[in-house]
Amino acid sequence: MALWGGRFEGGVETSTQEFGASLPVDKHLYKQDIAGSRAHAAMLAKQGIISQDDCDAISRGLGQIEAEIDAGAFAFDIDDEDIHMAIEGELTRRIGEAGKRLHTGRSRNDQVATDTRLATKALVKQLMEANLALRQTLVRVAQEHADAVLPGMTHLQHAQPVLLAHHLLAYYWMLTRDFKRLDAAFEAADASPLGAAALAGTTYPLDRVATAYALGFTRVIPNSLDAVSDRDFLLDLHFACSTMAMHLSRLAEEIVLWSSSEFGYITLSDSFSTGSSIMPQKKNPDFAELVRGKTGRVYGNLMQLLVTCKGLPLAYNKDLQEDKEGALDSAHTLVQCLEVMAGMVGTMHVNADRMRAACRVGHLAATDVADYLAKKGMPFREAHAVVGRLVLECDKRGCQLDELPIEEFRAASPLFGNDITGALDIDGIVAARTTEGGTAPSAVAEQLKFVRTSLVGDEARVEGLGHVVPMGAGA
Ligand code: ARG
Repeated sequence: MALWGGRFEGGVETSTQEFGASLPVDKHLYKQDIAGSRAHAAMLAKQGIISQDDCDAISRGLGQIEAEIDAGAFAFDIDDEDIHMAIEGELTRRIGEAGKRLHTGRSRNDQVATDTRLATKALVKQLMEANLALRQTLVRVAQEHADAVLPGMTHLQHAQPVLLAHHLLAYYWMLTRDFKRLDAAFEAADASPLGAAALAGTTYPLDRVATAYALGFTRVIPNSLDAVSDRDFLLDLHFACSTMAMHLSRLAEEIVLWSSSEFGYITLSDSFSTGSSIMPQKKNPDFAELVRGKTGRVYGNLMQLLVTCKGLPLAYNKDLQEDKEGALDSAHTLVQCLEVMAGMVGTMHVNADRMRAACRVGHLAATDVADYLAKKGMPFREAHAVVGRLVLECDKRGCQLDELPIEEFRAASPLFGNDITGALDIDGIVAARTTEGGTAPSAVAEQLKFVRTSLVGDEARVEGLGHVVPMGAGA
């Protein structure tokens, strides 16, 4: 018999029972549900709404149930609609009368919103930790290959040489902004709906601040209708995950390209690549492709929740039950993607010689040759045309700018002197880009100071998140 049995003369049709159930998904929130019930019961006792004995019995019973679920020894009843009913029902079977008092002044509407917010905080914390670990790996690899240069690209065409460290740190900063978006999602989730009851608050003298603080929330949601009916904090999580997945898909794509025979810039370690069932020679970047591919489902989860919430009237509607599966999936997916990426980047072999050899192709020095003329007084636009003609000549001869005889340069412009060789040297070209945020080793060294400051700040932020109720692994 369902918990609302009094009003009903018949049971729910078996197929609709299954259709309406959320237990297969929300059982993963058992720790949050139990923490919420504990805090609620303690507050009820403190406010004199239930006896201390009942509260103690509830707390003991919930402790037992939690330990059993943790150990994988709890048999969930598939007839239970959701985790709230599964736990409350079992509690009542175990402790009797006191279990029936737990739900005083509470509704599953504020209960589920509380559980979901607590779970969001735990998931976001995991994501922040995994995000930091990948960023640390990127910094380490950047520093280990401080001298490596590769052709920077625009339109996937060779453009100008850049340091590998500079290239990797670009991803560091993308992920740093993702961290901030995660932090914003944590902040959004960090408010307690408990005490909003079904929609309008209750007639019991609840202490909402006490339950909020007991659960590690920093504040109480000031409007009961809002508290039970909005899931925008989950949208913040989805958006943070989607943007991060997009960034990871870009890095993944470069790993796929760089590990191809055409590029050969990196060799993935055996532990982060796969073979072919038919072609014995193959070493495939499957996991990078999968990180790229997982982006689709993460975007899908964002769209699903946006559409689910669209047009919902106040306050709780059962549509909202569709909020948890995608959130758990996206968070889980991104934690995996971040960990796989950290492993892949941290163990890949960098073929610095191949990168440097690739800089011989595509006239990477052209801009610097034009700058050489401009610095000698020729208007840049004119210099651009002069060098364009030299590049055309190179292409006709099948050579690079540094292989063109000095006479050709002189014929193109009398401003060219023997010192033009300086503008043609790859390391010189890189070293000259000293503007803040540029690719010169000196500028990258400066950049690394900002990197370290941001790492220290974000590590401290994770430390300062305070108590979160961790996701349980037993369900
Ligand atoms: N399983 C529900 C959910 O996930 C819990 C709240 C149900 N409330 C209700 N009044 N039907 O949203």
